[in-house]
Amino acid sequence: LIAVNADRLRADFRALCEIGRTQAGGVSRTTFSDAHLDAREWFLRRAVAAGLETRVDAAGNHSAVLAAARSSAPTLLLGSHLDSVPDGGRFDGALGVVAALEALRAVNDAGLALPVALEAIDFTDEEGSLVGLLGSLALAGALTQELLEAPRGGRESLVAELARVGLSEAQLKDARRPPEALAGYLELHIEQGPELQRHRAQIGVVTAIAGSRSFRLLFEGAARHAGTTPMSSRRDALLGAARFALLVRDTVVDRFPGCVGTVGAIEVEPSAFNVVPGRARLLLELRSPAAEQLDALEAQLFRSAHRAAASDGLDLTIERVGRWDPVELDAKTQAAIERGAQDLGLSTLRLVSGAGHDAQALAPVTRAGMIFVPSIDGISHDPAEHTSWLHCLNGANVLLRAALSLAQSSSG
Ligand code: GLV
Ligand code: MN
Ligand code: MN
Repeated sequence: LIAVNADRLRADFRALCEIGRTQAGGVSRTTFSDAHLDAREWFLRRAVAAGLETRVDAAGNHSAVLAAARSSAPTLLLGSHLDSVPDGGRFDGALGVVAALEALRAVNDAGLALPVALEAIDFTDEEGSLVGLLGSLALAGALTQELLEAPRGGRESLVAELARVGLSEAQLKDARRPPEALAGYLELHIEQGPELQRHRAQIGVVTAIAGSRSFRLLFEGAARHAGTTPMSSRRDALLGAARFALLVRDTVVDRFPGCVGTVGAIEVEPSAFNVVPGRARLLLELRSPAAEQLDALEAQLFRSAHRAAASDGLDLTIERVGRWDPVELDAKTQAAIERGAQDLGLSTLRLVSGAGHDAQALAPVTRAGMIFVPSIDGISHDPAEHTSWLHCLNGANVLLRAALSLAQSSSG
C-alpha cells in the first residue's frame, strides 16, 4: 500500500519552519522577502536531491516535476504557497508544499508510471503582500491589467519587488498554461477555522471557497489644533473611520449573516496628541461564498458610508484593490478525496473555505480540489497556528491517494 515517508516529510517540514522563523515561534516570509526567497531555494534543492526536475515560470512559481512516460501528457498540479503573512504561522501554505513534494517522492520511490506528469508547485504571492494569488492567477491566465494597476500592496511596491527578484511585469502572463495541459489541481491546507475540530472530523473536503473584495478608504477632514478647535466644528477623519468600522460590523451581523467584513487597518495623519486627525486611511475586506451577497453588502455599506461621512463633514474616497471571486470546487475531485480518506479509515466533513487559496484561481480552468486538516482552536495567520503532526501526516496521505486516483482516471 503506497504511503508517504513520514520521517522524510516531518524532517522537511521542520527544516522549512526554521526559514524565516520568528521569536514567537511562527514564520515571517512575506512575498520576496529574504526568508521567502530562501524557502523557495530550499524547496528546489530538496526537489533536486530527490532526483526530480525543477522549473521556475515567468510568474516566479517554483516547481518540482515528476515527468510522465509520454511527454505530451497533461500535468496534475499539487501545491500551495511558501509565502506567509507578516508574523504568520508555520503551517499555512507550507504544509501543502512539503506534502506535494513528498507525494512526488513517494510515487517516484514506488516506481509507478502514471498517465500524467505530477508537479509540486509553490505559487508566488498567495497571501497578497503584493497582489494576492499572483502566481496561480497567472498560471490560470486570469491575471488582469486591472489587478496589476491597483494591487493590494500598492503599485510602487509591486514594481520594485518584481524588479528586485528579476521578474518582468510584462512577462508575468507568460506563466499561463493552456487548460488542456492540466489534469487538475489538488491542495492540502490547514483549515484555519474551527469546524473540523468541532465536528471531530479528521479530513475536510472543501466544496467551495469564499470570494473576497478588498478596498482602501480615505476619510478626509481637517487637521486642526486639538486645544482650540471647538468639538462642534471639527472634521475629525478618525471619527469617520471609527464610525465606519462599526458600520461594517453592524451591517454584516444584522443583515448579511453569510458574509464577514473586516477593517484590518486604520492609519491616521498627522498622528499626534495635539492635532485633530485630518486624514484616516482604512483597509477593508469583505468575504462570502455568494457573489450576489457581496454585491449587495458592498452597495449597502458604501451608500451608508458616504451618507455618514457627508454628515460628519468628511470627504470619502473608496478604491477597489483586489477581488477574488467565490468558486465551487470539482465534484469528482471531492469524491476522490473522500474515497482516499475512507480507505485510510479517516472521518471526513464537507465544508466551505472562508480563507482564500490558489485553488480559487485554478478552479475556473481545471478540476480543482482541496483537503483540509484540523487547526487547533481554528487559529491561523498567527504564530500560535497549530495542527497536530498526525493530522498533517493523514492529510499528506489523503493527498497522495487522491492524486493517484485522479491521475489514474485521467484520460491523459
Ligand atoms: C489568505 O490566506 C487569505 O485568505 O487571506
Ligand atoms: Mn494559505
Ligand atoms: Mn494565509
